[in-house]
Amino acid sequence: QTFKIAVIPGDGIGKEVIKEGLRVLDHLAEESEGKFAFEYDHFPWGCEYYLEHGKMMDEDGVEKMRNYDAIYFGAVGFPGVPDHVSLWGLRLAICQGLDQWANIRPVEFLPGVPHRINHPDPESLNWILVRENSEGEYSGIGGRNFQGRGPGGEVAVQSALFTEKGTERIIRFAFDLARTRKRKKVTSVTKSNAQQYGMVLWDEVFARVAKDYPDVETDQWLVDAMAAHFVLHPEDLEVVVASNLFADILSDLGSALAGSLGIAASANLSPDKSAPSMFESVHGSAPDIAGKGIANPIGTIGSAALMLDHLGLKEEAERVNQAIADTTGQGILTRDIGGTADTVEITDAIIKNLSKV
Ligand code: NAI
Ligand code: MG
Repeated sequence: QTFKIAVIPGDGIGKEVIKEGLRVLDHLAEESEGKFAFEYDHFPWGCEYYLEHGKMMDEDGVEKMRNYDAIYFGAVGFPGVPDHVSLWGLRLAICQGLDQWANIRPVEFLPGVPHRINHPDPESLNWILVRENSEGEYSGIGGRNFQGRGPGGEVAVQSALFTEKGTERIIRFAFDLARTRKRKKVTSVTKSNAQQYGMVLWDEVFARVAKDYPDVETDQWLVDAMAAHFVLHPEDLEVVVASNLFADILSDLGSALAGSLGIAASANLSPDKSAPSMFESVHGSAPDIAGKGIANPIGTIGSAALMLDHLGLKEEAERVNQAIADTTGQGILTRDIGGTADTVEITDAIIKNLSKV
Protein backbone atom coordinates (compact mmCIF):
# COMPACT_ATOMS: atom_id res chain seq x y z
CA GLN A 1 0.00 0.00 0.00
CA THR A 2 1.29 3.44 -0.93
CA PHE A 3 0.25 6.44 1.14
CA LYS A 4 0.29 9.81 -0.55
CA ILE A 5 1.58 12.48 1.82
CA ALA A 6 1.54 16.23 1.23
CA VAL A 7 4.60 17.72 2.91
CA ILE A 8 4.55 21.39 3.95
CA PRO A 9 7.78 22.22 5.81
CA GLY A 10 6.87 25.92 6.13
CA ASP A 11 9.29 28.27 7.86
CA GLY A 12 12.26 28.35 10.23
CA ILE A 13 12.88 25.14 12.13
CA GLY A 14 9.79 23.67 10.45
CA LYS A 15 12.03 22.83 7.48
CA GLU A 16 14.71 21.30 9.70
CA VAL A 17 12.47 19.05 11.75
CA ILE A 18 10.27 17.88 8.88
CA LYS A 19 13.37 16.60 7.11
CA GLU A 20 14.13 14.42 10.13
CA GLY A 21 10.54 13.19 10.39
CA LEU A 22 10.70 12.07 6.77
CA ARG A 23 13.89 10.13 7.47
CA VAL A 24 12.05 8.19 10.16
CA LEU A 25 9.13 7.46 7.83
CA ASP A 26 11.51 6.39 5.06
CA HIS A 27 13.28 4.03 7.41
CA LEU A 28 9.99 2.37 8.37
CA ALA A 29 8.90 2.03 4.76
CA GLU A 30 12.24 0.58 3.76
CA GLU A 31 12.26 -2.08 6.45
CA SER A 32 8.61 -2.98 5.79
CA GLU A 33 9.91 -4.61 2.59
CA GLY A 34 7.11 -3.43 0.39
CA LYS A 35 4.27 -3.81 2.87
CA PHE A 36 3.76 -0.06 2.67
CA ALA A 37 5.41 2.95 1.11
CA PHE A 38 5.12 6.72 1.23
CA GLU A 39 4.93 8.99 -1.75
CA TYR A 40 5.62 12.63 -0.90
CA ASP A 41 4.77 15.84 -2.67
CA HIS A 42 6.54 18.88 -1.24
CA PHE A 43 4.81 22.25 -1.15
CA PRO A 44 7.11 25.25 -0.67
CA TRP A 45 4.46 27.37 1.03
CA GLY A 46 5.22 29.76 3.85
CA CYS A 47 6.70 33.19 4.49
CA GLU A 48 9.38 33.04 1.78
CA TYR A 49 6.69 32.05 -0.68
CA TYR A 50 4.61 34.97 0.56
CA LEU A 51 7.40 37.50 0.05
CA GLU A 52 7.80 36.25 -3.52
CA HIS A 53 4.17 35.68 -4.52
CA GLY A 54 2.13 37.87 -2.16
CA LYS A 55 0.27 34.86 -0.79
CA MET A 56 1.08 32.12 1.70
CA MET A 57 -0.07 29.26 -0.55
CA ASP A 58 -1.62 28.62 -3.96
CA GLU A 59 -5.16 29.88 -4.38
CA ASP A 60 -6.41 26.32 -4.81
CA GLY A 61 -4.00 25.04 -2.16
CA VAL A 62 -6.67 23.69 0.16
CA GLU A 63 -8.31 21.82 -2.74
CA LYS A 64 -4.94 20.38 -3.76
CA MET A 65 -4.62 18.87 -0.27
CA ARG A 66 -7.72 16.76 -0.82
CA ASN A 67 -5.71 14.43 -3.10
CA TYR A 68 -3.60 13.17 -0.20
CA ASP A 69 -3.98 10.59 2.54
CA ALA A 70 -2.43 12.96 5.07
CA ILE A 71 -0.58 16.26 5.42
CA TYR A 72 2.73 16.52 7.26
CA PHE A 73 3.33 20.08 8.39
CA GLY A 74 6.37 21.86 9.87
CA ALA A 75 5.62 25.30 11.25
CA VAL A 76 4.66 28.65 9.84
CA GLY A 77 5.64 32.24 10.63
CA PHE A 78 8.78 34.32 10.25
CA PRO A 79 9.90 37.87 10.97
CA GLY A 80 9.07 40.02 7.94
CA VAL A 81 5.54 38.70 7.57
CA PRO A 82 2.96 39.58 10.25
CA ASP A 83 2.07 36.48 12.29
CA HIS A 84 -1.66 36.84 11.74
CA VAL A 85 -1.07 36.89 7.97
CA SER A 86 1.09 33.77 7.97
CA LEU A 87 -1.07 31.81 10.39
CA TRP A 88 -4.38 32.59 8.69
CA GLY A 89 -2.86 32.27 5.22
CA LEU A 90 -1.64 28.72 5.68
CA ARG A 91 -2.23 26.70 8.84
CA LEU A 92 -5.66 27.98 9.75
CA ALA A 93 -6.70 28.04 6.08
CA ILE A 94 -5.95 24.31 5.84
CA CYS A 95 -7.41 23.32 9.23
CA GLN A 96 -10.64 25.17 8.65
CA GLY A 97 -10.82 24.49 4.90
CA LEU A 98 -10.53 20.74 5.41
CA ASP A 99 -12.79 20.66 8.46
CA GLN A 100 -10.07 19.35 10.72
CA TRP A 101 -12.19 20.16 13.72
CA ALA A 102 -10.42 18.06 16.32
CA ASN A 103 -6.87 18.87 17.38
CA ILE A 104 -5.37 16.32 19.71
CA ARG A 105 -2.21 17.00 21.67
CA PRO A 106 -0.78 14.26 23.88
CA VAL A 107 1.23 15.47 26.89
CA GLU A 108 3.39 12.75 28.33
CA PHE A 109 6.41 12.14 30.49
CA LEU A 110 9.51 11.11 28.53
CA PRO A 111 12.24 9.21 30.38
CA GLY A 112 15.50 11.12 30.79
CA VAL A 113 13.97 14.49 30.01
CA PRO A 114 14.25 17.09 32.78
CA HIS A 115 10.60 17.76 33.52
CA ARG A 116 8.64 19.94 35.88
CA ILE A 117 6.07 17.38 36.93
CA ASN A 118 4.86 18.03 40.45
CA HIS A 119 4.27 14.43 41.44
CA PRO A 120 6.53 11.66 42.79
CA ASP A 121 5.52 9.46 39.86
CA PRO A 122 6.23 11.45 36.68
CA GLU A 123 4.27 8.88 34.66
CA SER A 124 1.20 10.53 36.14
CA LEU A 125 1.64 13.12 33.42
CA ASN A 126 -0.25 11.21 30.73
CA TRP A 127 -2.86 13.41 29.15
CA ILE A 128 -4.45 14.12 25.84
CA LEU A 129 -5.60 17.67 25.27
CA VAL A 130 -8.53 17.86 22.88
CA ARG A 131 -8.73 21.24 21.22
CA GLU A 132 -11.77 22.50 19.36
CA ASN A 133 -10.15 23.40 16.05
CA SER A 134 -12.77 25.01 13.84
CA GLU A 135 -14.50 27.86 15.67
CA GLY A 136 -14.42 29.45 19.12
CA GLU A 137 -12.02 32.35 19.51
CA TYR A 138 -10.40 31.55 16.14
CA SER A 139 -13.53 31.98 14.06
CA GLY A 140 -12.08 35.14 12.52
CA ILE A 141 -15.22 37.14 13.14
CA GLY A 142 -14.74 40.82 13.87
CA GLY A 143 -13.14 43.88 12.44
CA ARG A 144 -11.38 47.16 13.06
CA ASN A 145 -12.83 50.61 12.72
CA PHE A 146 -11.33 54.01 13.26
CA GLN A 147 -13.50 56.07 10.93
CA GLY A 148 -14.41 59.36 12.48
CA ARG A 149 -13.08 58.38 15.88
CA GLY A 150 -10.04 60.62 15.81
CA PRO A 151 -6.50 59.82 16.91
CA GLY A 152 -6.28 57.01 19.45
CA GLY A 153 -9.93 56.14 19.03
CA GLU A 154 -9.76 52.97 17.01
CA VAL A 155 -12.10 50.15 18.00
CA ALA A 156 -11.56 46.45 17.30
CA VAL A 157 -14.03 43.64 17.83
CA GLN A 158 -13.03 39.95 17.94
CA SER A 159 -15.88 37.56 18.46
CA ALA A 160 -15.82 33.94 19.54
CA LEU A 161 -18.27 31.63 17.78
CA PHE A 162 -19.72 28.64 19.59
CA THR A 163 -22.24 26.53 17.72
CA GLU A 164 -24.15 23.73 19.34
CA LYS A 165 -23.07 21.38 16.56
CA GLY A 166 -19.39 22.34 16.78
CA THR A 167 -19.37 22.15 20.54
CA GLU A 168 -21.19 18.85 20.71
CA ARG A 169 -18.97 17.07 18.18
CA ILE A 170 -15.72 18.01 19.95
CA ILE A 171 -17.10 17.07 23.36
CA ARG A 172 -18.35 13.72 22.02
CA PHE A 173 -14.94 13.19 20.45
CA ALA A 174 -13.33 13.71 23.87
CA PHE A 175 -15.69 11.24 25.52
CA ASP A 176 -15.10 8.62 22.82
CA LEU A 177 -11.36 9.09 23.25
CA ALA A 178 -11.64 8.76 27.03
CA ARG A 179 -13.37 5.40 26.59
CA THR A 180 -10.24 4.05 24.91
CA ARG A 181 -8.05 5.06 27.85
CA LYS A 182 -7.24 3.70 31.27
CA ARG A 183 -8.98 6.07 33.64
CA LYS A 184 -11.88 7.11 31.41
CA LYS A 185 -12.01 10.69 32.59
CA VAL A 186 -12.88 13.87 30.71
CA THR A 187 -12.19 17.31 32.13
CA SER A 188 -13.86 20.28 30.43
CA VAL A 189 -12.28 23.72 30.65
CA THR A 190 -14.16 26.98 30.04
CA LYS A 191 -14.51 30.46 31.50
CA SER A 192 -18.26 30.43 31.68
CA ASN A 193 -18.50 32.76 34.62
CA ALA A 194 -17.18 35.64 32.50
CA GLN A 195 -18.03 34.41 28.98
CA GLN A 196 -21.73 34.07 29.58
CA TYR A 197 -22.96 33.07 26.12
CA GLY A 198 -20.69 30.75 24.21
CA MET A 199 -19.10 29.06 27.16
CA VAL A 200 -22.35 28.59 29.04
CA LEU A 201 -23.62 26.85 25.90
CA TRP A 202 -20.45 24.71 26.02
CA ASP A 203 -21.11 23.79 29.68
CA GLU A 204 -24.70 22.84 28.90
CA VAL A 205 -23.72 20.69 25.95
CA PHE A 206 -21.03 19.04 28.07
CA ALA A 207 -23.55 18.14 30.78
CA ARG A 208 -25.96 16.75 28.18
CA VAL A 209 -23.37 14.67 26.32
CA ALA A 210 -21.98 13.33 29.62
CA LYS A 211 -25.29 11.57 30.21
CA ASP A 212 -24.57 9.36 27.18
CA TYR A 213 -21.31 8.22 28.78
CA PRO A 214 -22.17 7.04 32.30
CA ASP A 215 -18.97 4.99 32.31
CA VAL A 216 -16.78 8.09 31.89
CA GLU A 217 -15.87 10.25 34.88
CA THR A 218 -16.28 14.00 34.31
CA ASP A 219 -14.98 17.22 35.79
CA GLN A 220 -15.41 20.90 34.90
CA TRP A 221 -12.97 23.76 35.56
CA LEU A 222 -12.47 27.43 34.81
CA VAL A 223 -9.37 28.01 32.71
CA ASP A 224 -7.51 30.22 35.16
CA ALA A 225 -7.87 27.67 37.94
CA MET A 226 -6.96 24.92 35.48
CA ALA A 227 -3.66 26.62 34.62
CA ALA A 228 -2.71 26.29 38.29
CA HIS A 229 -4.14 22.77 38.50
CA PHE A 230 -1.97 21.66 35.56
CA VAL A 231 1.10 22.61 37.55
CA LEU A 232 -0.04 21.42 40.98
CA HIS A 233 -1.97 18.21 40.26
CA PRO A 234 -1.03 16.60 36.96
CA GLU A 235 -2.23 13.24 38.28
CA ASP A 236 -5.82 14.46 38.32
CA LEU A 237 -6.18 14.72 34.54
CA GLU A 238 -6.52 12.40 31.58
CA VAL A 239 -8.52 13.76 28.62
CA VAL A 240 -8.90 17.54 28.74
CA VAL A 241 -11.28 19.22 26.30
CA ALA A 242 -11.29 22.97 25.73
CA SER A 243 -11.95 25.71 23.22
CA ASN A 244 -9.59 26.66 20.43
CA LEU A 245 -7.76 29.41 22.35
CA PHE A 246 -7.75 27.85 25.80
CA ALA A 247 -6.44 24.49 24.62
CA ASP A 248 -3.81 26.27 22.53
CA ILE A 249 -2.47 28.05 25.60
CA LEU A 250 -2.82 25.06 27.92
CA SER A 251 -0.94 22.78 25.53
CA ASP A 252 2.16 25.00 25.64
CA LEU A 253 1.97 24.86 29.43
CA GLY A 254 1.54 21.09 29.30
CA SER A 255 4.56 20.62 27.06
CA ALA A 256 6.66 22.83 29.34
CA LEU A 257 5.69 20.58 32.27
CA ALA A 258 6.82 17.58 30.27
CA GLY A 259 10.12 19.29 29.49
CA SER A 260 9.95 21.40 26.33
CA LEU A 261 7.76 22.79 23.62
CA GLY A 262 10.03 20.85 21.27
CA ILE A 263 8.67 17.43 22.31
CA ALA A 264 4.95 18.13 21.84
CA ALA A 265 3.15 16.40 18.98
CA SER A 266 -0.26 17.12 17.53
CA ALA A 267 -2.83 15.95 15.02
CA ASN A 268 -5.45 18.09 13.32
CA LEU A 269 -8.06 15.48 12.58
CA SER A 270 -10.89 15.54 10.12
CA PRO A 271 -12.73 12.83 12.07
CA ASP A 272 -15.45 12.36 9.47
CA LYS A 273 -12.61 11.31 7.12
CA SER A 274 -14.15 13.54 4.49
CA ALA A 275 -10.76 15.19 4.05
CA PRO A 276 -7.13 14.47 4.96
CA SER A 277 -5.87 15.17 8.46
CA MET A 278 -2.76 17.22 9.21
CA PHE A 279 0.08 16.29 11.55
CA GLU A 280 2.43 18.89 13.07
CA SER A 281 4.42 19.65 16.17
CA VAL A 282 2.87 22.08 18.65
CA HIS A 283 5.75 24.55 18.50
CA GLY A 284 6.24 27.34 15.98
CA SER A 285 9.08 28.19 13.61
CA ALA A 286 11.44 29.31 16.42
CA PRO A 287 13.30 32.05 14.52
CA ASP A 288 15.67 32.40 17.49
CA ILE A 289 17.27 29.00 16.76
CA ALA A 290 16.41 28.53 13.07
CA GLY A 291 19.29 27.57 10.81
CA LYS A 292 21.48 26.35 13.66
CA GLY A 293 20.61 22.67 13.37
CA ILE A 294 19.77 22.38 17.07
CA ALA A 295 15.96 22.21 17.00
CA ASN A 296 14.38 19.30 18.79
CA PRO A 297 12.69 17.06 16.19
CA ILE A 298 10.81 14.91 18.74
CA GLY A 299 7.54 16.86 18.47
CA THR A 300 7.57 16.43 14.71
CA ILE A 301 8.63 12.78 14.82
CA GLY A 302 5.92 12.15 17.43
CA SER A 303 3.47 13.79 15.05
CA ALA A 304 4.59 11.31 12.39
CA ALA A 305 3.64 8.58 14.87
CA LEU A 306 0.18 10.11 15.17
CA MET A 307 0.01 10.10 11.36
CA LEU A 308 1.03 6.43 11.17
CA ASP A 309 -1.67 5.58 13.70
CA HIS A 310 -4.24 7.52 11.69
CA LEU A 311 -3.21 5.70 8.50
CA GLY A 312 -3.79 2.37 10.24
CA LEU A 313 -0.11 1.58 10.87
CA LYS A 314 -0.67 1.22 14.61
CA GLU A 315 2.27 -1.03 15.34
CA GLU A 316 4.68 1.29 13.54
CA ALA A 317 3.25 4.25 15.44
CA GLU A 318 3.92 2.53 18.75
CA ARG A 319 7.42 1.61 17.68
CA VAL A 320 8.25 5.22 16.83
CA ASN A 321 7.03 6.38 20.25
CA GLN A 322 9.02 3.62 21.91
CA ALA A 323 12.15 4.56 19.96
CA ILE A 324 11.75 8.19 21.05
CA ALA A 325 11.43 7.14 24.71
CA ASP A 326 14.40 4.78 24.40
CA THR A 327 16.51 7.57 22.92
CA THR A 328 15.74 10.13 25.61
CA GLY A 329 16.12 7.39 28.22
CA GLN A 330 19.68 6.81 26.93
CA GLY A 331 20.39 10.48 27.63
CA ILE A 332 20.54 11.46 23.97
CA LEU A 333 18.93 14.88 24.24
CA THR A 334 18.85 18.16 22.37
CA ARG A 335 19.72 21.41 24.15
CA ASP A 336 16.18 22.42 25.00
CA ILE A 337 15.93 19.28 27.14
CA GLY A 338 19.32 19.58 28.74
CA GLY A 339 21.58 17.71 26.30
CA THR A 340 24.07 18.46 23.57
CA ALA A 341 22.80 16.42 20.61
CA ASP A 342 21.82 18.29 17.48
CA THR A 343 18.75 17.74 15.31
CA VAL A 344 20.37 15.14 13.08
CA GLU A 345 22.15 13.26 15.88
CA ILE A 346 19.03 12.68 17.95
CA THR A 347 17.15 11.50 14.85
CA ASP A 348 19.99 9.11 14.01
CA ALA A 349 19.63 7.66 17.51
CA ILE A 350 15.86 7.35 17.16
CA ILE A 351 16.27 5.49 13.86
CA LYS A 352 18.90 3.24 15.40
CA ASN A 353 16.58 2.44 18.30
CA LEU A 354 13.77 1.84 15.84
CA SER A 355 15.74 -1.00 14.32
CA LYS A 356 15.86 -2.63 17.76
CA VAL A 357 12.19 -2.43 18.75
P1 NAI B 1 7.92 28.97 19.00
O1 NAI B 1 7.22 27.74 19.37
O2 NAI B 1 8.42 29.06 17.61
O3 NAI B 1 9.18 29.19 19.99
C1 NAI B 1 9.04 29.42 21.39
C2 NAI B 1 10.35 29.08 22.11
O4 NAI B 1 10.51 27.66 22.16
C3 NAI B 1 11.58 29.61 21.39
O5 NAI B 1 12.53 30.03 22.33
C4 NAI B 1 12.10 28.42 20.62
O6 NAI B 1 13.47 28.44 20.38
C5 NAI B 1 11.67 27.25 21.51
N1 NAI B 1 11.38 26.06 20.69
C6 NAI B 1 10.24 25.85 19.97
N2 NAI B 1 10.32 24.70 19.32
C7 NAI B 1 11.51 24.15 19.62
C8 NAI B 1 12.17 22.96 19.22
N3 NAI B 1 11.60 22.06 18.38
N4 NAI B 1 13.41 22.71 19.71
C9 NAI B 1 13.99 23.57 20.56
N5 NAI B 1 13.42 24.71 20.97
C10 NAI B 1 12.19 25.01 20.49
O7 NAI B 1 6.95 30.18 19.32
P2 NAI B 1 7.11 31.75 19.03
O8 NAI B 1 8.53 32.14 19.19
O9 NAI B 1 6.08 32.40 19.82
O10 NAI B 1 6.70 31.94 17.51
C11 NAI B 1 7.60 31.94 16.42
C12 NAI B 1 6.83 31.94 15.13
O11 NAI B 1 6.12 30.70 14.99
C13 NAI B 1 5.78 33.02 15.03
O12 NAI B 1 5.79 33.50 13.71
C14 NAI B 1 4.47 32.31 15.34
O13 NAI B 1 3.36 32.92 14.75
C15 NAI B 1 4.74 30.96 14.74
N6 NAI B 1 3.96 29.86 15.32
C16 NAI B 1 3.51 28.91 14.46
C17 NAI B 1 2.84 27.80 14.90
C18 NAI B 1 2.45 26.76 13.91
O14 NAI B 1 2.89 26.77 12.78
N7 NAI B 1 1.62 25.79 14.26
C19 NAI B 1 2.56 27.61 16.32
C20 NAI B 1 3.13 28.63 17.17
C21 NAI B 1 3.78 29.73 16.67
MG1 MG C 1 0.13 27.26 20.03
